[in-house]
Order: sequence, then structure tokens, then C-alpha cells
Amino acid sequence: MNFIESRFVKEVSDITSNMYRQGWDERNGGNISYMIDEEYVRDYFPVEKYIRDIELGFVADEILRNKYFLVTGTGKYFKNVINDPEANLGLVKISEDGKVAHLLWGYRDGGRFTSEFPAHLMSHAVRLKINPKNRIIMHTHPTYTICMGACLPTDEVIFTRKLWKSNTEAVVVFPEGVGVLPCMVCGTTEIGEATAEKMKKHRIVSWTNHGIYGAGNDIDEAFGLIETVEKTAQIYMLTLGRVVNEIPDEVIIGLAKLWNLKMMPGVIEEK
Ligand code: 13P
Ligand code: ZN
Repeated sequence: MNFIESRFVKEVSDITSNMYRQGWDERNGGNISYMIDEEYVRDYFPVEKYIRDIELGFVADEILRNKYFLVTGTGKYFKNVINDPEANLGLVKISEDGKVAHLLWGYRDGGRFTSEFPAHLMSHAVRLKINPKNRIIMHTHPTYTICMGACLPTDEVIFTRKLWKSNTEAVVVFPEGVGVLPCMVCGTTEIGEATAEKMKKHRIVSWTNHGIYGAGNDIDEAFGLIETVEKTAQIYMLTLGRVVNEIPDEVIIGLAKLWNLKMMPGVIEEK
């Protein structure tokens, strides 16, 4: 079977279309990386033949060496993936020395992986050490989350508290809270390192004035985290300055107890 017909390409094509329709991924905004096990890659590429090598520009963590990633291309539009996956996506293998990505499939017009690949790979490395089942890193530009970040200090306790106090689902879906980075230059190894540092404690990281990163075992999980943050940020922004019924601390604590969740410390004071 041809890789273009694989469930991996279908999953990424479907979710990029969906995210585009949410209004989060204007132009080339957003990127996704999907780690695929060698046994599945072998179904499509029994003999490893590389189309070309692409320099990473940094040295990938050892845990990522010889691992395969299906990754959106830089400058590519999410809305176009479904109609031409082979031009808009690429399947790469991280080299033995961690310096290069071997291209097995895709980037047909001579393209390369997203400019945010440092943040993706560094986040994959951190999440894999915590949870070997993590496969997805997803980055997007959800409107209300960006608005909310612009209205608040760049403080993850405050950001998380506002979310938890706005929607009862929030603490249940992300009890570890949202990591927050200040506005930084994107597409660099610096923002990659800063994002990965936050990923040690959080599966979601907000980039102030830019967007959000989510990690998950599968696309549903990463997307579900991001859409819950975004829905909650929408509630927060639409009620800003007019809230009469904020979720009481006792309800948030009750939800965490009911679901046996470990809450991010310092957000809600236990009485
Ligand atoms: P790429 O087109 O390089 O993926 O960049 C899009 C983006 O969202 C930058 O943060
Ligand atoms: Zn972005």
C-alpha cells in the first residue's frame, strides 16, 4: 500500500482541515508532528531509501534518534493538506547522530519540515521521557487563547486559575495547568528549549501573543486539550468584566477529588 493511503496521512489530513475550519490556522499558521513506530513505517517502506537529507540545525535528543515523524511542512497551509498531502507533509527519520532528518516521503516540491521543528522535537523528547506513549505535538493559533494571554500577566498560575474558574471541564481536562511563555521570537531553538522546559510539567503550553502547544498520545488527545483550553478562553473573554457566577474553589477541589486528579499546586488554595 502507498503511504499516502495510510491512516497516519488520513489522520493528519482530517485534523488539519478541522483545525483550519475552527479559524485557528490562518495561512501557514500551525504545525503538527506525529511519531510513527518503525513497524508501521516498514509496512510502506520495506527498504529504507532516502529522498534527501535535511539539516535539523540542532542536535536532537538521543531518545529521538532513528525515530520517524510525519510533520507538516514550513509555509504550508493547513487547509491544503487534505488535497495534496505529499506536497504539504513529510515523513522523516531522525539520523543516528541527531543532526539530520532523512526524508522518506513527502515535501514533494522541495520543501522542508515546519520552522517550529525544534520546539516539536524538544517537546517530544521531554514528553517521551515522562510518557513513552506520547506521539503527538500540535501547535496552532486559537483566537480566544491568544486574546486571553494578551489580557493577563504572563503567569501560569493566574492563567490556569482564570481557566479553571470559567469552565468546570477545565480542571478535569488539564489538572496540571497550562504552562505560559512570554512573547518570544518563534522558530528558534531558544523557544524550543523554553517550550520543552514547560512540557516537563504541562501537556499544554501557551505562547503569549502567538498560540498554543499541546501534547498527547494521539491526535484526539492533543486536539482535545487545545480545544478545551480554547473553549474555556472563549467563555472567559466573552464574560470578561461581567462575571457574576465564577466557579467556586470548593467545586474545583470537588471535581479534582471526584476524578482523583493531582492539581497544579498554588492555583486553588485547599481550605
Ligand atoms: P511553519 O509554516 O514554519 O510551520 O510556521 C507556522 C507557525 O505557526 C509558526 O509558529
Ligand atoms: Zn505559530
